[in-house]
Amino acid sequence: MRKLFTDIKAIHGIEDNTKSLLKGAEMSRVVTIHDAWLLTENGNFANWGSMQDSDLPKADEIISLHGLEVLPGLVDSHTHCIFAQLRSGEWEMRLKGATYEEIAAAGGGILNSAYKLRIMDEEWLYEQSLWRVKRMIEHGSTTIEIKSGYGLSIESELKMLRIGRRIEKNVKATIKTTFLGAHAVPPEFKGRQDDYVAHIINDMLPAVCAEGLADHMDVFCDRGFFTPEQTLLLLEAAAKYGLPAKIHANELGITGGVQVAAKAGAWSADHLEHIGNEEIECLRNSEVMPVGLPGTSYFLDIPYAPARTIIDAGLPFALASDFNPGSSPVCNLQMVWSLGCSRMKMLPTEAFNAITLNAARSLRLEKSIGSIAAGKQADFWITETHNAIQSVPYFFGVNHAKTVYLSANQA
Ligand code: NIG
Ligand code: FE
Repeated sequence: MRKLFTDIKAIHGIEDNTKSLLKGAEMSRVVTIHDAWLLTENGNFANWGSMQDSDLPKADEIISLHGLEVLPGLVDSHTHCIFAQLRSGEWEMRLKGATYEEIAAAGGGILNSAYKLRIMDEEWLYEQSLWRVKRMIEHGSTTIEIKSGYGLSIESELKMLRIGRRIEKNVKATIKTTFLGAHAVPPEFKGRQDDYVAHIINDMLPAVCAEGLADHMDVFCDRGFFTPEQTLLLLEAAAKYGLPAKIHANELGITGGVQVAAKAGAWSADHLEHIGNEEIECLRNSEVMPVGLPGTSYFLDIPYAPARTIIDAGLPFALASDFNPGSSPVCNLQMVWSLGCSRMKMLPTEAFNAITLNAARSLRLEKSIGSIAAGKQADFWITETHNAIQSVPYFFGVNHAKTVYLSANQA
């Protein structure tokens, strides 16, 4: 099945020279062609060219895009979108002066979400989560990673991950799941953190892997959560099951998370609000993709990951939403793109590459998604906004996506 999209004002994010990631100065480069056509074949990008070409390719279906612009599907490589309820009460507590860490230490935060999720009916949790995933897709996200971590027991972690797999079957977007049993220590293990780590390794991880429910393993390695030593044990155990590592690192302090990520060969180290030269040096000597989550910094009013320093050090950088009810209730990657620019001083082109190709790389999916390249999955969105690479992050707070295509079918 060949589909020919014609009368496109601009196609952005074309990869003429296939790369697995963009780093340093390369991150500011985005290839755009104007007055174009785009051909897809069997759900993949096949070719593109100028409307001035004398012969347009033959196709089974021709769709005029009437002067709109095309961008590749956005990749949200870090979300916690399966949750029972919003935590707007905690947000109000923070508005009155409480901190995220104080609320967590008092049994709120992630434990509050776990309490509500454990008692929530699986069907209802699925419906709620699916609704959120559809909102993400509407905003142009065509690949979404989903973490567990609000169950914190075998039964409830499996419930979350099964829902993740069910969402994967029922939407046309690409969905990847991550086991995050080490998100917080549940009340029944209070004061026995090492026992909980052993429980994850000996009981939860085998159960998750027996059902093939996770594509990666993640650990919240930070002050008040899991130590670097515990994190390494957990990630090494996961590696024995073939689960690659992702890690929540250095959100609350300089806590050794980046070094553990490098040691464990993690695919990405996410957060990085608190990092110094040592961490940057460590990233430079690794294959770990640094991922910033500016929605979290905005919402918790904490520092932003130093994207500028990281990119200027010649490193790659990705951005993700961290969509969750506690620290980042944002499901719109266009907004994250904008925050990357306005708050982290990334150029619009850099932040665009951070939510497309580099984000795909953080999931090691860069060969099949993340740009418009021949043979890649034809995931893209169209917008009425002119000069979209600059205008989408500039004109923030509205959804610029008019229609989203997943493998060249309308979402
Ligand atoms: O990435 N930091 C750890 N986990 C989430 C927050 C989860 C929550 O507060 O519910 C994050 O920010
Ligand atoms: Fe997170």
